[in-house]
Amino acid sequence: MQKIAIVTGAGAGIGKNAALSLWKAGYAVAVCARRLETLKDAIAEANVGADLALGMTVDVADPDAMRAFFDATITKFGRLDVVFNNAGLSAPPVPIDEMSDEQWRRVVDTNLSGSFYGMREGFRVMKAQSPKGGRIINNGSISAVTPRPYSAPYTSTKHAITGLTKSGNLDGRGHNIVVCQIDIGNAITPMTERMATGILQADGSMQPEDRLDVQEVGDLVVHMANMPLNANIPFATIMAPEMPFFGRG
Ligand SMILES: NC(=O)c1ccc[n+]([C@@H]2O[C@H](COP(=O)([O-])OP(=O)(O)OC[C@H]3O[C@@H](n4cnc5c(N)ncnc54)[C@H](OP(=O)(O)O)[C@@H]3O)[C@@H](O)[C@H]2O)c1
Repeated sequence: MQKIAIVTGAGAGIGKNAALSLWKAGYAVAVCARRLETLKDAIAEANVGADLALGMTVDVADPDAMRAFFDATITKFGRLDVVFNNAGLSAPPVPIDEMSDEQWRRVVDTNLSGSFYGMREGFRVMKAQSPKGGRIINNGSISAVTPRPYSAPYTSTKHAITGLTKSGNLDGRGHNIVVCQIDIGNAITPMTERMATGILQADGSMQPEDRLDVQEVGDLVVHMANMPLNANIPFATIMAPEMPFFGRG
């Protein structure tokens, strides 16, 4: 049976690589981002038939747009097996007392509310379809465990994603809905470009950091997507092995 996946934030970086990897693995994939051009490029790069791809302009922070995106996916493909709740962003690295309301809200609305809407719509669709169920993969971060300096909005929302994943695990029971999370450290994407040259460390110094080929993340997403629904890896950490994370300072 044709498997169907949704990937949010698929115009660049991890979301784009995950979508391309899912297409390559035989999935039909519905992708969204705020810029349609980037989605068109991703679909062209996938080089799959129009029957296997759907691209929509969606801001994941908009609950109505998310509902419409999931409905359009069902209208086109008939069911939904996998959601990769990926879209996310960070705020500029400034001290907490200099963070504006707007910067705080943008990160919370995108990273936390956007992932919640993706999970809510996933549950709605997966409960209603026959056969019931599916898998939701939330994109956390190693910032779900440990902060960088001046990252309160990003770190708080990524910690909160862990709560979403745990709640989803519990609430998915009895509906054949399985929820899991990947926590990535330093994949090579537009978001981590500044790590190649130098990024603020906890001790106040600026240091370049080890980064990871984004394809390793795409491969992990496919691995988790392909797991049967009677098995789960609730949390998977994938990181550049020499980046600062373990240890002190
Ligand atoms: N790269 C890493 O090492 C790393 C580590 C840990 C966690 N992560 C997480 O992985 C996810 C992707 O990161 P990335 O490095 O691939 O970022 P990226 O290179 O900046 O790409 C982000 C993608 O998400 C889309 N997007 C951003 N805000 C959106 C919104 N409100 N609605 C819909 N789409 C939106 C962007 O397109 P538009 O601008 O067109 O909307 C773009 O396609 C994020 O959740 C991030 O926190 C990344």
